[in-house]
Amino acid sequence: MIVNMEKKFDTIWINGAFTTCEPDHPFIQNGAMAVTNGKIAWIGNMVDLQSTPELLSHHVKDLQGRCVTPGLIDCHTHLIYGGNRAHEFELRLQGASYEEIARANGGIQSTVNATRSLSEEMLFEQSANRLQSLMQSGVTTIEIKSGYGLDWPNELKMLRVAKRLEETFSIKIFKTFLAAHTFPSEYKNNQEKYVDLICEEMIPIVAESSLADAVDVFCEKIAFNITQTERIFKTAKKYGLAIKCHAEQLSNTGSAALAAKYQALSADHLEYASLESIKTMAESYTVAVLLPGAFYYLREKKLPPIELLRQYHVPIAIASDSNPGTSPILSLTLILNMACTLFGLTPIEALHGVTRNAAKALGIEKTHGTLSVGKNADFAVWNVNNPIELIYYIGNNPLYCTSRSQNIVE
Ligand code: NIG
Ligand code: FE
Repeated sequence: MIVNMEKKFDTIWINGAFTTCEPDHPFIQNGAMAVTNGKIAWIGNMVDLQSTPELLSHHVKDLQGRCVTPGLIDCHTHLIYGGNRAHEFELRLQGASYEEIARANGGIQSTVNATRSLSEEMLFEQSANRLQSLMQSGVTTIEIKSGYGLDWPNELKMLRVAKRLEETFSIKIFKTFLAAHTFPSEYKNNQEKYVDLICEEMIPIVAESSLADAVDVFCEKIAFNITQTERIFKTAKKYGLAIKCHAEQLSNTGSAALAAKYQALSADHLEYASLESIKTMAESYTVAVLLPGAFYYLREKKLPPIELLRQYHVPIAIASDSNPGTSPILSLTLILNMACTLFGLTPIEALHGVTRNAAKALGIEKTHGTLSVGKNADFAVWNVNNPIELIYYIGNNPLYCTSRSQNIVE
């Protein structure tokens, strides 16, 4: 018998269709979920509730059959930037390649110029608009990379904007330091000096001041080579930072295997990854983050090795890669659709890619990514009855509301 004065739960959500993303109990058709102190305290069938909802909580919310999923996690974005690259989009439509544009000082360098020229306030405002769009597609946790500053004042400016976005919007932001995105024009002919700067000056401050959670490297012919990448990984590890890698997006560099050798949280893109890379990733539990938005915008023909990833049980996450060059996309539900139509993922694989596996790609799977007792109460409520409908429609916004534990002061 529940004593009336002391309600058991802060809030209870009733009459919902829950997609938990847990392997054992993936769906609860007519269910309820209780939340206390920002954590999921109970989840199960309505008929198994130990009392009437009103006796369990002062706050009873009737979901009226709506679908509930874990809050979506966008585990790879470059959301903070100045300017846009619509002109490069036009050039690529006329036949120019991403590499050609990059070598001609367009590409990442042109966004670096635009980002450097913006004040911190303007950068915050422009990025806040993009973040709000992504949040409207059900995102409750997001990773944001630096990498359009490429000198200390501007990399720091980006990381400070990320922190301010986190505080302003009460959303968890995993911050990744990506000074190794490309060589800025002032170091084009002195690459090793730039790697020295990253390893000897920037990473130590990032780690000591807790400005970021991870370090990422774009390992590619037009960016950092495998030796430079390894040196940066070693430094990141030495300073206790997690590792991520833009790996094998445009060519086979062996970088996914290298990242896995350094226990990277994830290797991302992977269109050109080899069997060897995938085996190494499987051994080190490195998540494969697939980015269908970049594949689509670059009109890439080579698919990432989905079947091998499945065969070797490498967890597959998917993300927007939201950035001005290769993926100016601000909807994670559109990315879910692309993961199915372009990469052949099943809708449930895609959904796991933005929930449980995306949490693994950020190392936060103990607290995020599934609707399970003890995890943070981060979830999305949708105006649909079945999660497949989230993926099937393009252009409507089926989001009803989200709940973010970050809102709750514990
Ligand atoms: O993930 N490949 C490198 N980085 C981004 C693109 C960044 C840009 O072109 O501005 C990506 O695709
Ligand atoms: Fe990226």
